[in-house]
This record gives sequence, C-alpha cells and structure tokens, in this order.
Amino acid sequence: MPSPRILVLGATGGLGRALVRSLSSGHETTGWGRVELDLERPESIAAALSRHDFDVLLNPAGLTSPDVCEEQPGKALLANVAGPQALAEFCQQRGARMVHFSTDYVFSGTAQEPLTEEDETEPVNHYGRTKRAGELAVLQACQHALVARVSWLFGPDKASHPDHIIQRALKGEELTAVADKVSVPTSNADICGWIELLIRNRPDVNGVLHLCNSGSASWHSWAEAALEAARKTGLPVGTAQVRPIQLAELSFLKAPRPLMTIMSNAKLQNILGMTVRDWREALEEYVGQKYPTA
Ligand SMILES: NC(=O)c1ccc[n+]([C@@H]2O[C@H](COP(=O)([O-])OP(=O)(O)OC[C@H]3O[C@@H](n4cnc5c(N)ncnc54)[C@H](OP(=O)(O)O)[C@@H]3O)[C@@H](O)[C@H]2O)c1
Repeated sequence: MPSPRILVLGATGGLGRALVRSLSSGHETTGWGRVELDLERPESIAAALSRHDFDVLLNPAGLTSPDVCEEQPGKALLANVAGPQALAEFCQQRGARMVHFSTDYVFSGTAQEPLTEEDETEPVNHYGRTKRAGELAVLQACQHALVARVSWLFGPDKASHPDHIIQRALKGEELTAVADKVSVPTSNADICGWIELLIRNRPDVNGVLHLCNSGSASWHSWAEAALEAARKTGLPVGTAQVRPIQLAELSFLKAPRPLMTIMSNAKLQNILGMTVRDWREALEEYVGQKYPTA
C-alpha cells in the first residue's frame, strides 16, 4: 500500500509544527498555516483544499486560548466549529481520513476518576463548548474522522508551562503554580509517534480517542518535575522551590477552568497494543534535549 499523503493545518502552532517535522521523514507531508487556509472563512475552505492532493488531513489548528475564546465568541465559533465542519465535509466527499484535535476542556472538571471517551462532556467555558461542538460537527460530517483529545501539551515548538518555570528559575524569580487543578501533561513528540502509528497501521480507527501520556499532575507537580528534570540535565536552577497556590487566586483569568480533567489513555494503549509512557519520563527527555548544558 503506498504511503498516504498528509496535509497538516495549523503548521505555525506548537503541535502542528511537531507533526510536520515528525511525519515528513516517512511520508509526503505538507504543512499549511492560516495564509493557505483560514478556518474563520469556512466558505473558502473547499476551494483551498481542492488545490492540494492528500489522503489524510490533520487539524490541530483552532482558537486555543480559553481567555481569547471567552472574549471573542464569534471568532471561536468559526475557528473551532464552522471551519472544522467544512474540513470534515470536504474529507467526506474526497474519501480522505481526518484527524481533528480536541481537548480535555470538553469535560466539566468534577470527575473523581480518569475520564474515558464515553464519559459525558460538559464544558465550563466557551473554548470547551466550541471544541465540543467542533467534535460533534466533524464526527457527523465525516465517517472517517478521528477526534483526538489531548491535554497540557509540551514540546520544542512552543514554550509551555515547564519552559516558563525553568526560564523563571534560571532568572531567580519567585515561582508559583496552581495545585488544585489536575490533568495529564503530554509530549507533542509522543503524540506525533501515536499519530504515525494510527495512520500507518490503523486506518479503521475513528470516533473519539484520548491521546495523552500516562499518569497525572497538577500545574504545581508539573512545575516541580520540570525543575527536577532541569537539575538532572545540569541547568543552574539551584534549589528553586515552587509555592503552591489555588486556581481561584488567578483572578486575571477571563474564562473559568475545569479542575479535574485527567483523561484515561486505556483505549489508545489497547488500539496501539503498547504501553504509553508516563509524562514524567517524556518531560525528562524533552528537557534534556531542549536545554543541553554541555
Ligand atoms: N496546548 C495545549 O496544552 C492543549 C491542550 C488541550 C488541547 N489542545 C488542542 O491541541 C491542538 C493544538 O494545540 P496547540 O497548543 O499546538 O495550538 P497553537 O500552538 O495555539 O496553534 C494553533 C494553530 O492554529 C492556527 N489557527 C488559529 N486560528 C486559525 C484560523 N482562523 N485559520 C487557520 N489557522 C488558525 C494558528 O495559526 P497562527 O499561528 O496564524 O495563529 C496555529 O497554527 C488544538 O486543537 C488545541 O485545542 C491543546
């Protein structure tokens, strides 16, 4: 079977960049940014896509800041719902596979146990509501669509929580992190590996799938693990400590955040027939590669 041709949208974003780089080594892969395809102009999407031949469309693009979504709800609806729906309609017509990325923020944050793909969704902010509506629109429009929910991404293409903590520790600044909000930090590099396996070996998989590392963390324990990894790699972060705070103290946030959105990756492990590593192992590897000291 010939290797599928892949088109990645959101190629200027954190996960999009990682996908283009990672998949390019084994597949004909093209990355598009908003210049080539604007999700906020759904009426232009079919014409844009028809200019390019592809078998698999990966869509990590969208309006990803909860606070921006809260302040610009119309823009969020276009980028996270109407745009993805138009992508899915085109993929259905062409018989292409679509992987649409979504979020742990589709959940309310009140669960006691890790959340499965079958658990009820109940987003608490406009970002989560538009992402959930986008999931449903994509699944309804395209029978070959896979909705891949991810959480708390880190990787070399966009600074995220561990990078901010390490940078601040290196400058000797005071460190605080929220201790009462939990989810699963997840490596963009690991997501790329799972996506490659799903494309290569499992063209039959569709519906909703949680793509996250194993384990769980609060923003506080994630920050402490980042410092620990920095020390191991020899970065001069000294004995920096992270002071735990409560989510409610972050009064500048515009959108409410769900507190507990740990997703179960049991279905992913079952589908791929492999053990998915703990986020701590992936974080240590990332920090060692991103901040080499020698
Ligand atoms: N980061 C996380 O921790 C996290 C957690 C849970 C779920 N997710 C989900 O994972 C996916 C990837 O996240 P990420 O952090 O890699 O995202 P990101 O870095 O914020 O990148 C978003 C991408 O979408 C593009 N985009 C935004 N509006 C667009 C539009 N109207 N038309 C075309 N492209 C547009 C951006 O282009 P510009 O560069 O031009 O703005 C950028 O390339 C998203 O679906 C997100 O909801 C992320």
